[in-house]
Amino acid sequence: MNYSTIDSDVLIIGAGGGGLRAALELDRTSLDVLVVGKREFGDAHTVKAAGGINASFGNLDPEDNWKIHAADTLREGGFINDPRAVELLCKKVPDRVKELREWGCNFNLTDSGSIDQRYFGAQSFRRTCFVGDRTGKAIEATLVDAIKGTNVARKQEVVVTKILTEEGRAIGAVGYDKKSSELLLFKVKAVLLAAGGYTQIYSRSSSRPHENTGDGPALAFDAGARLQDMEMVQFHPTGMVKPEEKLGSLVTEAVRGEGGKLFNTNDDRFMERYSPQKMELDARDKVARAIYREIEKGNGTEAGGVYLDISHEDSESVRERIPGIVEKFREVGVDPTSERMEVAPTTHYSMGGVKINFETGKTAVEGLFAVGEVTAGLHGANRLGGNSLAEVVTFGQHVAVALKEYAKSVSNPSAPEAMIKSGLAEIEDIRDGGGDNDPGELMDELGRVLWKHAGIVRTEEGLKQGLTRILNLRERANHIKAVDKINSERFDRAVELKFALPVAESVVRSAIAREESRGAHYRDDHRERLVDWKKNIEVMGSPEHPELKMRNVEKIPDTIKQALKEGYELDYHHLE
Ligand code: FUM
Repeated sequence: MNYSTIDSDVLIIGAGGGGLRAALELDRTSLDVLVVGKREFGDAHTVKAAGGINASFGNLDPEDNWKIHAADTLREGGFINDPRAVELLCKKVPDRVKELREWGCNFNLTDSGSIDQRYFGAQSFRRTCFVGDRTGKAIEATLVDAIKGTNVARKQEVVVTKILTEEGRAIGAVGYDKKSSELLLFKVKAVLLAAGGYTQIYSRSSSRPHENTGDGPALAFDAGARLQDMEMVQFHPTGMVKPEEKLGSLVTEAVRGEGGKLFNTNDDRFMERYSPQKMELDARDKVARAIYREIEKGNGTEAGGVYLDISHEDSESVRERIPGIVEKFREVGVDPTSERMEVAPTTHYSMGGVKINFETGKTAVEGLFAVGEVTAGLHGANRLGGNSLAEVVTFGQHVAVALKEYAKSVSNPSAPEAMIKSGLAEIEDIRDGGGDNDPGELMDELGRVLWKHAGIVRTEEGLKQGLTRILNLRERANHIKAVDKINSERFDRAVELKFALPVAESVVRSAIAREESRGAHYRDDHRERLVDWKKNIEVMGSPEHPELKMRNVEKIPDTIKQALKEGYELDYHHLE
């Protein structure tokens, strides 16, 4: 089998905010660092994060501080977050944001020149720093610029198909170059997984096609790491509903943060009934469920949405503060400065993922580290808007410190020939197929199964039906049509399917096990949150034989408990 070998000290899989911020930190050492990404460099999933990044500067609301940010994060997370991770995030993120500004990220500023901050859902104060509604894009571009002046090596449009381990230690990976079809072997001392989450395994998602397809959690699980909180999938309240090709595309929470109101087709501002205090800025799960219920009751539009209206706000300010949304809707013939937008929930973020120690970024596999959406624990049962960009830059920097120590302390691995061959043989197996099934069709079917059976409102019966269908898809995925070329749509879909299926199975098995409602996981047959379920569900074993284990959450530090007791919470009516 022909392949090229690439030696480095550290391989970073994923070129979004987490991977790039870690690479910048590692560049300050003598280590050789290589970043690979599935798309073109600078166009990672991070660019889709729109509305902002949280940091408790208190530039507009001086009462804010890191403890209240932590309290909001834990409350939104249904108190199954890792409290130490939350503390690290909320204490460290202001420095990361300041640093981004120093590196040229053009945050919106107040008249006095400090970083402007906006309201975002379920946050006690204006805490979300932003670059219009293209914050992720601006942050990614800043990090890409910063990387250009370093020794960090980059390889774009590379798909990693397997992390290689020897005696329980990660020593490299295999994959392929999407353009040239070349098979690649990476031989390294340590791997940092920054490959995103699994929202795109649902049929309706705010991610672009073929990104966030579960690659990261699947790679880690296959290598021996544990997964956690897989049932916790965030449904963002507002995605586009039409035209068909825009279905699910994000309509940033910034619209509601800037004053946007939701109406059903009876012109009823229904959030007054579901959440009279926090209204449109309640937690994402609450607003998403309210919209779902309105549509279910027949109060939705023909296209299956409700209305989001910001036309009452000053149109110049709307154009300045959410320019991306104005452009996106104008392209489809709707002007948000004077017309209502049609929206409905969309799969947006996976709180579940690889279990790590947030002090170090270490997974259960020696030499395998992880950062960003691929990980689980920081956000618990639901994530605050604005905390994902915060996470990637904070933990990108933070975990690189432990990774550097590790990579400096270990010798170069040997990577036995037999192991390399078996890793590459898996790529050949996918190509050879062995049946007649089309991987793209199976992937589409999986998306529909998850949306229907493991979506915004779940029941045991529906989840079990979903599991049966996923197991059937797993069987059919063993018999796909042979693929001539590696650089083909069908081959990419077959690889995606290989990642997506065990991830989907973990989502559904965990959702069946959690017989309560908490955060984004809502069971219509168990509507209450139960004290006994203040636990995380870990997925162990192997992709072929997953096993679930419940684990109690860690204690919340007293400083954050105090902020929770003080009970800061947004009252929407103060904004009007
Ligand atoms: O609505 C948004 O702009 C999403 C932001 C986030 O999920 O952090």
